[in-house]
Amino acid sequence: LVSRPAVARPAPRLPACARRGVKEAARCAAMSAEWREGGATVIEGADFIEVGPRTRGRPAVSHTYDDHRMAMCLSLAAFNPVAGGHAPLRILDPRCVAKTFPDYFEALFRVATAAPADVPVITIDGPTASGKGTLAAAVAAALGWQLLDSGALYRATGLAAQWDGLSPDDEAAVAQRAARLDLRFEGGRSWLRGHDVTEDLRLESTGLLASRVSAHPAVRSALHGLQLAFRRAPGLVADGRDMGTVVFPGAPLKVFLTASPAERAERRHKQLISKGISASIADLRADLEARDERDRSRSVAPLKPAEDALLLDNSQLGIDESVQQALAWWQPRGPFRG
Ligand code: C5P
Repeated sequence: LVSRPAVARPAPRLPACARRGVKEAARCAAMSAEWREGGATVIEGADFIEVGPRTRGRPAVSHTYDDHRMAMCLSLAAFNPVAGGHAPLRILDPRCVAKTFPDYFEALFRVATAAPADVPVITIDGPTASGKGTLAAAVAAALGWQLLDSGALYRATGLAAQWDGLSPDDEAAVAQRAARLDLRFEGGRSWLRGHDVTEDLRLESTGLLASRVSAHPAVRSALHGLQLAFRRAPGLVADGRDMGTVVFPGAPLKVFLTASPAERAERRHKQLISKGISASIADLRADLEARDERDRSRSVAPLKPAEDALLLDNSQLGIDESVQQALAWWQPRGPFRG
């Protein structure tokens, strides 16, 4: 939770603690301790605690004692005007809100918005079938952050163009579809113009279509704003081809993920076989190398590592090892370094 700049307001007084018995008193003591740890001034009375604004401009970590009320109370720091966005507060075990309000933090982040520049971003770029999507989803889940699968936006644009009978080479008409992309992600499924396209988006043929429409500068700029809009609190993991070079050039951690073409073709083959789709490894390898070549050689936003990207070759790594590496790279760059 990232605090905003200071505005003077009366300090809130939490309701009577003493009258409510031992359990409540313990909770009030815990609340005071955590707020103090978080840099707030706390005055404890016989039957109240008064919490002043967080004044210490450093990141803080607060415990919730497996108590949903603690988590919700501490989360009010999101509205607390302190330290110009440089004193984030990490609330541990936020899922304890499940008891009464499972999507409390999602609801909170819909109303308490942070300035995009204050929201940290990790970019994960790389060639086709390098495992970017899997790595990005796992890192986002580990940090509790938003996820942007930018390839899905290009894939959906390709599909929308196909539905409308357009040639993928018709730059202006395809860009117009991209600008009005009616795409929603909900409960792990993707909806384009109200149709469930989860499976269609993952097809090889849709990937090839995406690679053709994505070479048009007008299509790329039509999707630019949509990608930026994913930068919401508490953070974003974005995967694609140009996340670190073009869309989020200031991201504090950029990962460029690679694996040998043989390994990538093998993985794609396993994926398809598990879905009951037969394919030849040689054909898959030829397709993915052709797609990489088109992505690398286009004039706008070509596939290449950002200058400050860290390279991760995961040919010999399992998913967990890659996730641990990315998180280890993030640790010294994020606000909670301790
Ligand atoms: O990552 P994914 O395979 O879903 O991407 C499909 C295609 O979309 C890629 O081959 C690439 O041409 C294009 N793309 C892109 N820029 C991105 C993400 C994907 O050009 N940021």
